[in-house]
Amino acid sequence: MANYDRYKAQTAESYENRCLMDYLVRIPSDRKLIPFISQIKGGKILDVGPGSGRYTKLLLNDNEVVGIDRNPHLCRLPIKVHQGDATQLAQLVEAHSLDMVFSTWMTEYLNPQQLSTFFQQARIAIKQGGELVTTIISKKGFGFLYITAAGLLRGVSKYNYSKRELQDKLREAGFKEISIVNLSSWLGIPWAYLVIAG
Ligand SMILES: C[S@@+](CC[C@H](N)C(=O)[O-])C[C@H]1O[C@@H](n2cnc3c(N)ncnc32)[C@H](O)[C@@H]1O
Repeated sequence: MANYDRYKAQTAESYENRCLMDYLVRIPSDRKLIPFISQIKGGKILDVGPGSGRYTKLLLNDNEVVGIDRNPHLCRLPIKVHQGDATQLAQLVEAHSLDMVFSTWMTEYLNPQQLSTFFQQARIAIKQGGELVTTIISKKGFGFLYITAAGLLRGVSKYNYSKRELQDKLREAGFKEISIVNLSSWLGIPWAYLVIAG
């Protein structure tokens, strides 16, 4: 079973149920993430792995948004969500037609080869001057604990990355302007990054 198949039996409602990790990592990192997402305006955006659309809905008022997800049934927002994979997203859209490829808390399902392919596909889909915006789980602090626990306790393969690995992969994919912002968790413990690349 592929790691993303764990959502097959979930609904939009069950996905939204809060768990301990929400309080430890998601809610603290939202303090930086939500204001950043809320100021994104006027763009044609592909959301990769929108899930129930917890963050996607922040984009809807001021942007044209389409999604692609392995589990499109999770999304109840009034947008089109194609069933598909992050590593094949460029098949869905015209080359260099998007202002942004956007993704939150999806890349933890991508192994190193798949992450490189996702970056390459995003580069093809984004127009000149456009950006890739994505979260990535860190190898430090809660990032390390979360990924290790997913494997040991639940048997789910998840992946985290260092800033150096991200920079190398993004440059290989053709991104030149790269900003990697720390997203801290409870008590400022390292957890994840917000990557903005153009
Ligand atoms: C942890 S959820 C995050 C959902 C939402 N973006 C959020 O931040 O609340 C991960 C989502 O990514 C999707 N996903 C996982 N691997 C994927 C892949 N390779 N291609 C497309 N979607 C994927 C899952 O189906 C799920 O909807």
